[in-house]
Amino acid sequence: MKKESVFIETYGCQMNEYDSDRIINALNAIPTNEPNNADIIIINTCAIREKADHKAVSAIGRYNKLKKDNPNLIIGMSGCVAQLYGKKLLKDMPYLDFVLGPRGIPQIPKIINNIRSEEKNRPIETSMDVEDVFDISPYHQEGKVVGFVSIQQGCNKKCAYCIVPTTRGSEINRPMPEIINESQDLVKKGARELTYIGQTVNSWKHDGLRFFNLLDYLQEIDGLERIRFTTSFPKDITKKMIDSMKNNSKICNQLHLPVQSGSNRILRQMSRTYTIEWYRDRIELLKEAIPDLALSTDIIIGFGNEDENDFQMTMDLINLIEFDTVYSFKYSIRPGTPGEKMKSHVPDNVASERLHILQARQKEITLKKNLECLGKIENVLIEGFSKQNQNDLFGRTSTNKVVNIKNLDESHIGKIINVKIIEAMQNSLIGEKI
Ligand code: 5AD
Repeated sequence: MKKESVFIETYGCQMNEYDSDRIINALNAIPTNEPNNADIIIINTCAIREKADHKAVSAIGRYNKLKKDNPNLIIGMSGCVAQLYGKKLLKDMPYLDFVLGPRGIPQIPKIINNIRSEEKNRPIETSMDVEDVFDISPYHQEGKVVGFVSIQQGCNKKCAYCIVPTTRGSEINRPMPEIINESQDLVKKGARELTYIGQTVNSWKHDGLRFFNLLDYLQEIDGLERIRFTTSFPKDITKKMIDSMKNNSKICNQLHLPVQSGSNRILRQMSRTYTIEWYRDRIELLKEAIPDLALSTDIIIGFGNEDENDFQMTMDLINLIEFDTVYSFKYSIRPGTPGEKMKSHVPDNVASERLHILQARQKEITLKKNLECLGKIENVLIEGFSKQNQNDLFGRTSTNKVVNIKNLDESHIGKIINVKIIEAMQNSLIGEKI
C-alpha cells in the first residue's frame, strides 16, 4: 500500500513536538511541510493558555478549505485541546474527522483505517486509562543531530493554574530499559544530543531507581555526547541529582527550573509546595557545584491576588538570580483547574503592565548574559544550516545559546567544535571556529 503523507502543525511544548513525531511513526507516514499535498492534516494542540487553545481551533478552520480540492483529505485534532473538549469539537466543527488525546497516539492507525473504510464516522479517542502510553517511538530524520526522549507522561503536581494533569493525566514513569533503547536508536540515526522530557522529569522514579540514577546510566550510552532534560520541578531537586549533574560530563550546563513567582504568598496560592527560600537555596547549591550553569525559568504574572508587593518580589528574584532566559506569561484561567474557582484575579491591564515591566528588564539581563560570552571559547555542537543564512551553520553551546558560524562546511554537522564568540545579540551569538 502506498504510504500516506501527513502534515502536522504542532503547538506548545516539547512533549507535543515529540508526540507529533510519534504520530508520524505510528502512521508509518511520510511527513510533509506542505499542507496542500497532504493526505492527512493533524493539528497537535496545546491547552496551557486560552490563546494557544484558540489558535488551534482556528487552524482547523483554515485547513478545511483544502477539502474542496481533495475530498479524501482527513483533518484531525490531537493533543491537549482534543483531550480537553473531546466530543464538543466534533459537534462544533462538522468538518473535523477525528479527535485524539495525547494518550491515544498508538490508536491512530486504527482511527485512520476506520475513516478510510467508512467503518466509523468521525472517531474519538480520549481515554486516559491506557497501558501503552510509551509504545510508539518518535520519527527521527536520518542524520538529525538533536532529538527528544520522553521519560514520563502526565503530572502528579497540583498547581492551581495548570490544565496539564487534566489533559495528560497523572504521572506515569517510563521503564529505564525502554528509555535506553530509544536513546540508542536515536544515536544510531545520528543524534548526538538528546533532551529527556517530562512534565517534572526530576521526579522520575521506576523500579527503585531515581532520576539521578537514570542520569548516571544515560551517561554510559555510546555515541551520545550531550544530555539535556526538561522540565525540572524545584521541590524535586535533590543533592544527589546535583552531584550527578556535576560528575556527568555529558550533561549540558543548563537547567530550566520554573519558579512561577517570587512571592511566597502567591506560591502558596499556586500550590507550588516550595518557598522562595527553598528555590534560592537550590540555585545556590547548583551554582556551587556547577559555576557556569545557565538558568532559565517560567513566570506567571497576575495569578490570584498578586499585588504590587508580590510583583516586586518577582522582580527582585529575576534581578538577583539573573536567569539567562525567562519565559513569562499572563495568567490565563483554565477550565476545571482550582484557579478557575478562585475569586480574585488581577485585572488584565494591570497584569499586562507588570508583564511588560518584567519582560523589558529581562531583555536587558539576557543581552548582558550574551555579551558576557564575547571573546570566550565555547564548545558548540553543530546542528545544521543557519536559519538566517543558508551559507552559515549553527549550533548550540552547552549553555543552550544559539551560535551562528560563518564559512564552515557542512561536514561539521554533528560535531562538537571549539568556537570563539565574536558577536553577541539579543537572541543569538556569532562565532568563528578556532
Ligand atoms: N496561565 C498562564 N501560564 C501558564 N502556565 C501554565 N499554566 C498557565 C496558565 N493557566 C505556564 C507556566 C508553565 C509554562 C509551561 O506555562 O509558567 O511553567
